Amino acid sequence: MEKYFIANWKMNNSFQELEDWLDEFYENCNNITTNNNLPTIVLCPPSTLLDQLDSELVDDGYEFLSYVAKENNRSNNDFTAEEIIQYVYKSRPIKIGAQDCHYQEKGSYTSNISAKMLKDVNCEFVILGHSERRVLQSETNQIVSLKAENVLKNNMIPIICIGEELKLRQENTYLDFIGKQLIESLPSQINNDQMIIVAYEPVWAIGSGQSATVEQISEVVKYIHKIISNLQPSLKFYITYGGSVDSNNAEQISAIENLSGLLVGRASLDAGEFLKIVQLSINN
Ligand code: PGA
Repeated sequence: MEKYFIANWKMNNSFQELEDWLDEFYENCNNITTNNNLPTIVLCPPSTLLDQLDSELVDDGYEFLSYVAKENNRSNNDFTAEEIIQYVYKSRPIKIGAQDCHYQEKGSYTSNISAKMLKDVNCEFVILGHSERRVLQSETNQIVSLKAENVLKNNMIPIICIGEELKLRQENTYLDFIGKQLIESLPSQINNDQMIIVAYEPVWAIGSGQSATVEQISEVVKYIHKIISNLQPSLKFYITYGGSVDSNNAEQISAIENLSGLLVGRASLDAGEFLKIVQLSINN
């Protein structure tokens, strides 16, 4: 099964810290071993670092191309355009993700960034509807849905975040809330050749140091799976979990049926800890 590990840096890190993170990542990523497919790593830095991340990955891709050339007794210059795309872009060890985008393509929206602009820096994934945006920026399900449409239109993959506040869990109304939030946040139309990721992130677990239990996550994952499968049986979708994931709980959580990865906030700021989470989770 395909697995996604999404590092959400939120409003953290500088140019130098990105470089240090990548150095540590490259030093250790070859130690990742798995019998399954290699996982997809999606790094979502603040938007000021997206272009730098892209440049670093392009440089790294050309180094890889030189390595392939040397191994095969070829010259760097005789690679076809398709091969260059393959070695420099498609085989990147890290995919670029953004933390949000606007729902319009362009216009007078001071401070905002559109999906099309993200595509320009080779972004492939966009987190949408994170609870910190829903709560702090009053983002509604309808806005999240429009944003997701724009992300798909620009050939990127939306990571749609949903999750309940503690009060709803205590009142035992969380499943109804999650179902409605999910259905309303989905784009109005998704073609079967497109793909989405739904991230279940209980608000009370985010940044609290207290992740949801395996039973709590399993119940919601099953519910999300049922809703989407009923809505659009041939849609390609994956479900991830986020909320205080670290190397102590990643292995247990990632073994949950129909869960295809993790969205990691605080623990992803440390490349070593993030890779540990990946290694502990990929063989489940
Ligand atoms: P956390 O954040 O891992 O720090 O709880 C997760 C998230 O907000 O996506």
